[in-house]
Amino acid sequence: MSKYILPVSVFGTVFGAAVLLKNHVTGGPCPSKATIKGKTVVITGANTGIGKETARELAKRGGRIIMGCRDMEKCETAAKEIRGKTLNPYVYACQLDLASVKSIREFAERIKQEEERVDVLINNAGVMRCPAGKTEDGFDMQFGVNHLGHFLLTNLLLDKLKESAPSRVINLASLAHIVGKIDFEDLNWEKKKFDTKQAYCQSKLANVLFTRELAKRLQGTGITVNAVHPGVVATELGRHTGLHQSQFSSSVLSPFFSLLVKSPELGAQPSVYLAVSEEMEGVTGRYYDVMTEKEPAPLALDEEAARRLWEVSSRLVGLEEEGQSGKSNPTTEVQSKAAQTVPVLRH
Ligand SMILES: NC(=O)c1ccc[n+]([C@@H]2O[C@H](COP(=O)([O-])OP(=O)(O)OC[C@H]3O[C@@H](n4cnc5c(N)ncnc54)[C@H](OP(=O)(O)O)[C@@H]3O)[C@@H](O)[C@H]2O)c1
Repeated sequence: MSKYILPVSVFGTVFGAAVLLKNHVTGGPCPSKATIKGKTVVITGANTGIGKETARELAKRGGRIIMGCRDMEKCETAAKEIRGKTLNPYVYACQLDLASVKSIREFAERIKQEEERVDVLINNAGVMRCPAGKTEDGFDMQFGVNHLGHFLLTNLLLDKLKESAPSRVINLASLAHIVGKIDFEDLNWEKKKFDTKQAYCQSKLANVLFTRELAKRLQGTGITVNAVHPGVVATELGRHTGLHQSQFSSSVLSPFFSLLVKSPELGAQPSVYLAVSEEMEGVTGRYYDVMTEKEPAPLALDEEAARRLWEVSSRLVGLEEEGQSGKSNPTTEVQSKAAQTVPVLRH
């Protein structure tokens, strides 16, 4: 028995210390007390996890909150809960399926018609390590939802963001981008064997490259754009992984794991910080690890890859055709303006 005392007590001490220090080590709450009365925030995937807590915190700070979710029942329930908890009546549930170009266009059109302004766009929704599957338009699910869906949505809302400037775009990326690679020959996993981990990492690298390219194209418009890794947060993101699928891991390992990782409330603080803090005014094209600016992985600094990804993405979601047919295309307008300015990105 005595031979177990030392290892058990060491484990207990380390585990206890990890739990106690977790909030401190993982960033803590947003240091800014800024309120956002009169500002409109659009958040994707806001019915659960980090998105829901971000919506709640920003509603508490007085914002008008548009929650874009694919499941309207879950979205209405979350919006009602947030209105009740924050006593802010201006929290709305709105249909948005990022796995459908049609749904994204309808959502963007509704925002453009019904909202006077969009001050903050938080591209939060995400799927991780789901089984092989395609979006309605035939894109790989993770690349389609995590990157292409947000790419299209952001482009469609650029005019509104520009009219509301200074405005902010926040892209939820991940530390997982460091092992991502963009396979321009096979972005949608049609030629090679599907690898769900790599598909997630590719989509998260795409989020960082998109952030940097968009920031470059938006210089001089008053819209800033930054990417953030929120930390490791106990949410439903791992729903497709082993941890959530077996009875043993969901009932025994999962509660143990959630003691070590951040709560969704704490996981929302980096998004809140990027959305409201005074220090983030005018800051653009950066990558944040929780609330600290960090240099992203070398592949995320590849300007040629960022430009190429932009062009391919425009083509895939049909933005390029619009520009060519002479229809109103906010991206083209912003690009031509940006082309006259000098990019001043730090990384
Ligand atoms: N949790 C972490 O440790 C962690 C770490 C790094 C990065 N992140 C990033 O943080 C973001 C938020 O993740 P989370 O942890 O809060 O995950 P989560 O709890 O699973 O929430 C993800 C949200 O995205 C929504 N969503 C998924 N597919 C969608 C679609 N096709 N259209 C519209 N909405 C869709 C989900 O809606 P349903 O409920 O209907 O499925 C849900 O509201 C993600 O971008 C993720 O990659 C999280």
